[in-house]
Amino acid sequence: MTSPLPSPSAASVLDLAPVVPVVVVPDAADAVPLARALVAGGLPAIEVTLRTPAAPAAIREIAGAVPEAVVGAGTVITPEQVTECRAAGARFLVSPGWTDALLAAMRASGVPFLPGVSTTSEVVALLERGVREMKFFPAEAAGGTAYLRSLAGPLPQARFCPTGGIGPDNAAEYLALPNVGCVGGSWMVPAEAVAARDWARIEELARAASRLAGPTGAGPTGAGPTGAGGTCR
Ligand code: 3PG
Repeated sequence: MTSPLPSPSAASVLDLAPVVPVVVVPDAADAVPLARALVAGGLPAIEVTLRTPAAPAAIREIAGAVPEAVVGAGTVITPEQVTECRAAGARFLVSPGWTDALLAAMRASGVPFLPGVSTTSEVVALLERGVREMKFFPAEAAGGTAYLRSLAGPLPQARFCPTGGIGPDNAAEYLALPNVGCVGGSWMVPAEAVAARDWARIEELARAASRLAGPTGAGPTGAGPTGAGGTCR
């Protein structure tokens, strides 16, 4: 099966791919085979978290050697990290939270971004700042699908990428919500498989994850034009 290629010019992180692998790369030398396994399994939008010193180099490696992937940076919490990740070639930015300083840096970065929220007031504060697309984190701990469904009534203009506690058993339930554009998670990149360089297993897990979005490979997307959410173009 051919992997769905995300549009390189997608204005929104939520429109890149329905399932975004959240990866931790301890050794940048593993970044390219890991990314190739995810792409081969049908998951071309890859979030490399800044949880290891190797992360910026891993982003650089993937950006340079795996053109079929759209590599982004996750766990971005400072303006300096925004600059560092963009210099490495990150094509989208994700944060578990946000501050006004971080938001300003993300807006100035020139690539799509997702600030993180876990409460209604944070959602309203982002809407007030013109941002309509957000990461909902930690999704399961913060209320899961019931919480997101409850937000869709009063705040239909907000769209989310939930992550945190999502896996094969509940991803489809999230993707079925009208205010969810994609889901993120680490279940298809288990730390032990990365350590063992078991790329075949990661490809297999990625393929199963890509099928959770449905036969078309496309998750439901919310209404609304791009450009006013976590977007910059
Ligand atoms: C994230 O940073 O988005 C989460 O840590 C991913 O959560 P998970 O490991 O529970 O999938």
